[in-house]
Amino acid sequence: MTTIWPDGGSKSAALFNRARAVLPGGISRLQTWVDPFPIYAQRGEGAYIVDVDGTRRLDMMNNFASLIHGHAHPQVIKAATAAAAQGSCFAMPTEAEVAMAELLCERIASVDRVRFCNSGTEAVMIALKAARARTGRPRIAKIEGAYHGMYDYAEVSLDSAPSNWGNDPRSVRFAEGSPQAVLDDTVIFPHNDVETAERILRHAGDTLAAILIDPAPGVFGMIPMTPEFVAMIQQVAKDIGACIIIDEVIAFRLGYHGAQARFGIRPDFTTFAKIIGGGFPVGAVAGTEAAMAVFSHQDGKPLNPSSGTFTANPVTMSAGLATMELMTPEAYDSLEMLGDHARKVSAQAIAASGVTGQVTGVGAMFALHLHDRPMTNYRDAYPVGDESARSKALHLALLNAGYIMSPKLSSFLSTAMTTDELDGFGEALERGLRGLG
Ligand SMILES: Cc1ncc(COP(=O)(O)O)c(C=O)c1O
Repeated sequence: MTTIWPDGGSKSAALFNRARAVLPGGISRLQTWVDPFPIYAQRGEGAYIVDVDGTRRLDMMNNFASLIHGHAHPQVIKAATAAAAQGSCFAMPTEAEVAMAELLCERIASVDRVRFCNSGTEAVMIALKAARARTGRPRIAKIEGAYHGMYDYAEVSLDSAPSNWGNDPRSVRFAEGSPQAVLDDTVIFPHNDVETAERILRHAGDTLAAILIDPAPGVFGMIPMTPEFVAMIQQVAKDIGACIIIDEVIAFRLGYHGAQARFGIRPDFTTFAKIIGGGFPVGAVAGTEAAMAVFSHQDGKPLNPSSGTFTANPVTMSAGLATMELMTPEAYDSLEMLGDHARKVSAQAIAASGVTGQVTGVGAMFALHLHDRPMTNYRDAYPVGDESARSKALHLALLNAGYIMSPKLSSFLSTAMTTDELDGFGEALERGLRGLG
C-alpha cells in the first residue's frame, strides 16, 4: 500500500495535528523535520520502514547513521531483550560495559580507556571538557559548518551564512542567547583549506585545549579530509600542545579500526555514539591512557568528573556489543562496496537526467548536490539560488518513489541493503531529477 505524501487525510497528518498541541512545532527532534509534516513510523523491518499509513520505503537514512544493520536485527534485538528482561539499569556496573569497552580498546589503536555516556552530544561535550582539564586551557577549535551535537561550543558556526561568515571563518552564534564568551572561546577553521586553517590554529596557539575534527563531516556532504590537511592538524596540535579530538560518532562506520586508522589520525580523544549503541541511546569518550587519566578518581576527585544515570546501561551495552560483533572486517568491506555502488548509480542517474548535480561521500555514506561547484568544504556546499527548493522537491519525489534520504539529501547505508535495492534507487533518482526539469 502506498500513500502519496504529504496527504492531509493521512494518519501521519492526524498525528501531527495532535502533536502540535503538545510538542513545540509538533516535533521532538529538529533534525528530522520535513515540511509540511513528518511521516510517522509504524515499524522498521531490516532495510525498510513501514509508516502509520502502511507505506513501505527503503530507509537510506538509518536514524542518521545509527543503525548499521538496519531495523530490528534479530541478534541485536535478542541481546537487548535478554538484557532488559534482567533489569534495564542499575546504580552498579555490569559485565556488558566491560565487554563493550574491551571491544573498542581492541579495535582502535589510540583507545586504551573508555568512558560511556548517553549521546554523541554528551560525548563531544565531555571530550572537550576533558581536553580543557588536561591542558588547563579554555578554548577549542572546530571546523566551520561541522555538526558535533548541541553543546554550546560544539555548535558554533554550524549554520553560518555568507552574510556573517567573514573571510576567515568567524565564530557565529547558533542558538540565540549563547554567551559571547562561548564565541570568544571557539575558534573556527575551514575544512581542507590547509593554509588558512594552519594560520588560524597557530594564531590561537597555546590558548587551545583541543582541535575537534570529523574526518568526513556529514552535514556538508562527507567530504573526506585530505592527507595534507590531516598532516597539518597533527603537526599543529603537536607544536601548540593542543589535544586532537576526533569525532567518530558517524565516522566509526568507515573502518574496523576506526576512521582514524583509515585517515592516519592519531588522536588524544575519540568520541563515539550511534552504531555502538545498536539502536539505543549511547555515547562514549575514549582515548589514550594518559589523556583519559583526567576521568580517573584514583587519586581523589577527577580532574574532569563525568557521570550520568543511564550511562553504560546493560540494554544499550548488550545491543551495542551484538551490533559491533557483527561488524567484522568483511562487513565493513561489503558496506564499502554498497557505498561505491550507491555513488555510481547516483552519478549515472545525474548524468542520464541531464540535470546539474554531483554526488559526494565516502564509505557507506553519500550526499547529492544540485550544483557542480568543486566541493572542498561547508561554503562550497552552502545552497544558493533555488538549490534548496530543488533539493526539497527531489526529496519529496524520492519519498513518493519509496526512498528515504535526509531532507538535505544525504544517506547512510546499512548491511541490510543490497545492490539491487540501490539500482532501484538509481532509477527513482533519475526520474526524480527529470521531474525537476
Ligand atoms: C558527528 C556527530 N557528532 C555528534 C553528534 C551528536 O550525537 P547525538 O545526536 O547522539 O547527540 C552527531 C549527530 O548526528 C554527529 O553526526
